[in-house]
Amino acid sequence: MNETPNDLIVRKGEVICHPNDLANHSAIRFQVRCSDIQSFPGMNADPEDYLPAFVLRKNQLVVAYLNRCAHLPMEMDWNPAQFLDEDLNYIVCATHYAVYEIKTGLSVRGPCPKGASLIPLAIHITENEIIFTGSESE
Ligand code: FES
Repeated sequence: MNETPNDLIVRKGEVICHPNDLANHSAIRFQVRCSDIQSFPGMNADPEDYLPAFVLRKNQLVVAYLNRCAHLPMEMDWNPAQFLDEDLNYIVCATHYAVYEIKTGLSVRGPCPKGASLIPLAIHITENEIIFTGSESE
C-alpha cells in the first residue's frame, strides 16, 4: 500500500528516535526483525524477515505497534506514518476503516472480529531516546 522502503530497521535494544522527533499526534515508521518479537497467530514469516511497525505520540502517551491491521494483514497508514482519525483520537486503518484505541490497540469499530487488537511492541523511553525492547509480554 504505502511503500516506504527506507523505513529504519530497528533491532531489539536499539533506538527508534529521540522523543523530540515524535511530534504530538504524529508517528514514525520503522521495521522490526521477526526474531526480535514473539510470534503471533498468522505471523507467517521467517525469523529473518522484517515487519513494518510504528511509534505514535498522543500528548504524553507514546505507543508502538506493528503496522498490521487486525482485519487483514495490511499496513494501515493513510499516507506514510499517518494513522489517526480526523479527530486525532483513534488509530484507523485506511483500507476498511477498522478503528482502534490508541492506548490499548483494541479494535472498537469496523470489520475486525470482536476482541481483535493491534500487536503491541515494547518501548522504553528515556530523556533522549525511545528504544524498541521487543514484544510487550516479554
Ligand atoms: S485491512 Fe484494515 S480494516 Fe480491513
